[in-house]
Amino acid sequence: MEAATVVDKLSAIPQGARMIAAAKQLDNVWLVGGAVRDLLLGVEPRELDVVVEGPIDELLEALGGESQRFERFGTATVTSEGARFDIARTRSESYAHPGALPDVSPSTIEEDLARRDFTINAIAVRLADGSVRSNPRSLDDLAGGLLRVLHPGSFVDDPTRLWRCARYAARLGFQVEPETAALAAAALPGAVSGERLGHELRLALREPSPTALFTILEDLNAGALVEGFDPRPGSLDSALDLLGEQGSAPLTTLAACCAGVELDLLTRWLNFLQFSAEDRDCVLVASRWVTGEPLRNAQSRSAIAAAARGAPLEAVALAGGENARLWLSELRHVGLKITGDDLIAAGVERGPMVGDALNHALDKTLDQVIADRSEQLNTALEFLNRSSQ
Ligand code: CTP
Repeated sequence: MEAATVVDKLSAIPQGARMIAAAKQLDNVWLVGGAVRDLLLGVEPRELDVVVEGPIDELLEALGGESQRFERFGTATVTSEGARFDIARTRSESYAHPGALPDVSPSTIEEDLARRDFTINAIAVRLADGSVRSNPRSLDDLAGGLLRVLHPGSFVDDPTRLWRCARYAARLGFQVEPETAALAAAALPGAVSGERLGHELRLALREPSPTALFTILEDLNAGALVEGFDPRPGSLDSALDLLGEQGSAPLTTLAACCAGVELDLLTRWLNFLQFSAEDRDCVLVASRWVTGEPLRNAQSRSAIAAAARGAPLEAVALAGGENARLWLSELRHVGLKITGDDLIAAGVERGPMVGDALNHALDKTLDQVIADRSEQLNTALEFLNRSSQ
């Protein structure tokens, strides 16, 4: 691994070139973490993390744009001409108790690297001259595809690193080095706030292969996921296929994984992880739909609609089968060309029967017995006539 080439690689990315230009007069600005790792692996970094040994003001000024500062951690986010930079002062961290947010104090670049999670993320490259600082094992581990914590207390300080470990292993195809795996197995995954764990779960669901990630996570530490969670649900691939661009792939994935989690437990878990009420309810409903009995058994287009209407798209996709495909691709878009006002204009009295008549006309439309507006109006009026006799 030729870490000295990182600045050249960075200059090929537009926001990288901007950062290099801003930092060239400063001898204390370092690219760190995931950005260095990804550039060395030949992958475009998702974001650029930069640390400054000393106050960050000069770099903020050189970058221009708008910056938002977070005094507690001495960090800032800069947005300038569409690019986003995360800038921090080099810092060491201590944890008041396992899983707490760290207390931070200014440090050297070496101390800043030592506080980090894995050797592959503990490489820094100085933007002014390309010089490199890293843990002695960083470059070999990166070349060898190994995930190794920097110190034995890493998962105790921050159990969300179990999730990070699984995320990198799944995304990069890396192996977890045996001592790190033993430390992960001994960690207490629950010693973290629900908000932070929920954040990790939501990140996991957006990774290229959440199921590979969950499988690795479960192997790393059996307690990291809720009881009954299935990391590789058989129903998922076809559901995602059915869903296509509709609905939410992350929520469908989570619901499929949670089909075997007892309902009360699942509700408490999703609340603890601070899912919004809307997302929580979608997962709860969709996770129960995996068998999809009423939908699968429906014998007509209107019966399919009756079974699927009102359910989240994710739930219908998980139910699977031809009826689900028909609902998602076609039937859910079928509507009436008349409204209740048309019936009232035709002399019908207001009341619940209006809704029933519209539903009847919709069923006949779904079943392709009728199609155009006048047929729908006549069908609804005939229904009301029959009902009043
Ligand atoms: N970091 C850490 N421990 C954590 C969170 C972050 O040591 N619990 C460090 C790692 O060095 C990491 C860096 O902070 O590389 C930036 O964090 P983040 O952006 O979350 O990591 P990336 O590796 O850049 O993540 P990704 O590739 O998923 O965007």
